[in-house]
Amino acid sequence: MIFNHEIVIVGAGLAGLRAAVEAVETVDVAVVSKVLPTRSHSGAAQGGITAALGNEEEDQWEWHLFDTIKGGDYLGDQDAIEIMVRDAPRAIYELEHMGVPFSRTRDGRIAQRNFGGHTREYGKAPVKRACHAADHTGRVVLDTLYDQTLRHYVKFYAEHYLLSLVFDEGRCIGVVTYNLASGNVDFLRAKAVLLATGGCGKIYKTTSNGFATTGEALSLVYRAGIPLEDMEFIQFHPTGLFPLGILVSEAARGEGGILLNNAGEPFMERYAPKIKDLAARDVVSRAILTEVREGRGIGGKGYVHLDLTRLGEQKIIEKLWEITSFARIYLGIDAVSQPIPVAPTCHYAMGGIPTDGDGRVIADNTGKAVPGLYAAGECACVSVHGANRLGCNSLLDLLVFGRRSGKAMKEEVPAVEVSVVNFDPVEAAKSRLAALMAKEGKEQSHLLRQEMQATMMNHGSVFRTEETLKQGIDTILALRKRFSRVAVANQGRSFNYQLMETIELGHQLDLCEVILVSALHRRESRGAHFREEYQTPDGEAKRNDDEYAYVAAWEYTGEGKPHILHKEQLKFEEVEMKERSYK
Ligand code: FUM
Repeated sequence: MIFNHEIVIVGAGLAGLRAAVEAVETVDVAVVSKVLPTRSHSGAAQGGITAALGNEEEDQWEWHLFDTIKGGDYLGDQDAIEIMVRDAPRAIYELEHMGVPFSRTRDGRIAQRNFGGHTREYGKAPVKRACHAADHTGRVVLDTLYDQTLRHYVKFYAEHYLLSLVFDEGRCIGVVTYNLASGNVDFLRAKAVLLATGGCGKIYKTTSNGFATTGEALSLVYRAGIPLEDMEFIQFHPTGLFPLGILVSEAARGEGGILLNNAGEPFMERYAPKIKDLAARDVVSRAILTEVREGRGIGGKGYVHLDLTRLGEQKIIEKLWEITSFARIYLGIDAVSQPIPVAPTCHYAMGGIPTDGDGRVIADNTGKAVPGLYAAGECACVSVHGANRLGCNSLLDLLVFGRRSGKAMKEEVPAVEVSVVNFDPVEAAKSRLAALMAKEGKEQSHLLRQEMQATMMNHGSVFRTEETLKQGIDTILALRKRFSRVAVANQGRSFNYQLMETIELGHQLDLCEVILVSALHRRESRGAHFREEYQTPDGEAKRNDDEYAYVAAWEYTGEGKPHILHKEQLKFEEVEMKERSYK
């Protein structure tokens, strides 16, 4: 079937819903979501949203700007970061007016808490900047925005899987989707398409990401010839509940929790004496794994302890109820009296689909936009997080750039004519599906996926070397060959997850390859990208600004062919590039 809308948004997380709320004021908007909208992964965000409100301590947007640039190891786009941090207070008050039930200070203002890397007076001391609703901030914001979309009659295509992007003479004119319940393939024609599909964390074995974060939109864009940028920068959150990888919010440390090694030593004092457990995430993740490597993990194993016992029951119940309930439910641990086992977990991709500050997808390094195509949220790279994102800047990014994308689209579409094409995108997608279903082979997608996830964990995670990366690329290329022999045993039409997961695996292998290729190329350590060959004698990251102070974007040129590198030079108009240290 063909359905016509002015705007089609793919993804019902915070970026997609915020864009929808903005655009639906004047144009017709549809949202496609792979899961039920309120199951979108934004709902798992715990700790908060940053804004220099200064409700609990003095704060300024200029300090927020500085922290974000430094946190990203000077690779972020400073103009885009300025847009984001200056708009943050407005974004928070807007949510408050929509009905988000933020936690409150005693005098009724929005409560704020400490988060890693957020400081006052340009790094002097931690500052309370994260506005939150206890430890389920994403959940309440998602529910509130969803209510707003219903109020404005946004049309939802729930449990519809994105199969392809449709282009006509270079313009994106819609998407083809697979209806999971019926098995129908549909063309959703649009004057503008926004991709807001979130991250790709499920390419790693241990991740805080939900099942839907498989990254197909990134791969579809990449295969359409649009380079992906900053792909080597994958963030590992320091505190995943061990061994599951479920997020234990940094809010736990923001509220006073500390990390301890096997000797009961608060080891972050050695790695970041000034802000200790509240250093940037890449610093804390490396510190935890260094403790483990040097035999100071708990019982010599692969984790350390997060100690909340010092906070007291009252504070835990009020501020950290959800995450402590995870420890209780999954591990039988009562955080009031027992430490929680934690280890780094894959959490966030700093890179993605290049966009300008209004969500327009950028086709190449001349800055030319792809007509009709927008992206926002984790799948996009406005470049506000550089080489490492600071905690709680993610929800802010989703809200600020989701809204800006919605605004840009609603301004653009009245002048766009409905496209009439002389090809049938539905038939093309159906024949691809039929070919996949008919394939005979001995390989099974779930087994290949496990191998892929283990490979990314072992070869492209917190610590990397030339050797591990090269081995990782070889293994991914071998998996790609085996993928061509995958058979889909389930021939059913309704909720055929095996078919969906097989399609996802093809996309995931693309992303693994580009992440490892980009990481191999960058012969320095910067932010979340730590190459063991490039470190100081005391284990600090060694940047090479002379050779690598640029954003790397990789263009796909065909399967098995070399990727083409595009370099985007950085501007330093706000904050000068300096050494990044939390010591
Ligand atoms: O630790 C957390 O609550 C995560 C927040 C974030 O990734 O922004």
